[in-house]
Amino acid sequence: MSDIKKLPENIVLVGIMGCGKSTVGRELQVRLGYPLVDMDQEIERTAGKPISAIFAEEGEGRFRDMETRLLRQLDASDCRRRIVSTGGGVVGREENRRLLRSLGYVVWLDAPLSVILERTGKTRHRPLLQTADPEAKLRELLETRGPLYQETAHLKLDTSGLDSGEIAAGILECARYFFSHRHA
Ligand code: S3P
Repeated sequence: MSDIKKLPENIVLVGIMGCGKSTVGRELQVRLGYPLVDMDQEIERTAGKPISAIFAEEGEGRFRDMETRLLRQLDASDCRRRIVSTGGGVVGREENRRLLRSLGYVVWLDAPLSVILERTGKTRHRPLLQTADPEAKLRELLETRGPLYQETAHLKLDTSGLDSGEIAAGILECARYFFSHRHA
């Protein structure tokens, strides 16, 4: 789009499963014309199998190692002008949180539990929610990860009642403000 001023850095999306990172990531990709790095997809591509199979065959710890390795690679490659969409648990490790902030402008897409439940209930590909009580699991994850998203993000956006276009527009405005005042 011609009226979109280019941003000098990456935009990194974090938040719980089902908060809209992938959808908003694609919206930002279209608006900015930057490549989208979807970390879950990238890990599946490298591993040659879906995340559910990585969890089942190698365990969650291996998956977390893959996330950290990918973040290190992105950081070392001097990756710029990209949209990075992360998996919901990426903030669990201190090193990851540092790498995420080093990569660019980190946006926490927040949404109420009811919205997350509705969205995640439609799919079955998330291993952590294959439990008798997905609501309790999500509640627990939101509680433990909330402070970590908060600590990592430059911007927290409550996405309630907004469509992906409105969310992307909000992110771009805030990011432009951030980058134009950063060296002031
Ligand atoms: C996870 C979230 C998933 C995926 C994996 C673990 C988590 O990504 O990385 O299933 O720990 O919350 P999304 O947040 O994109 O669903």
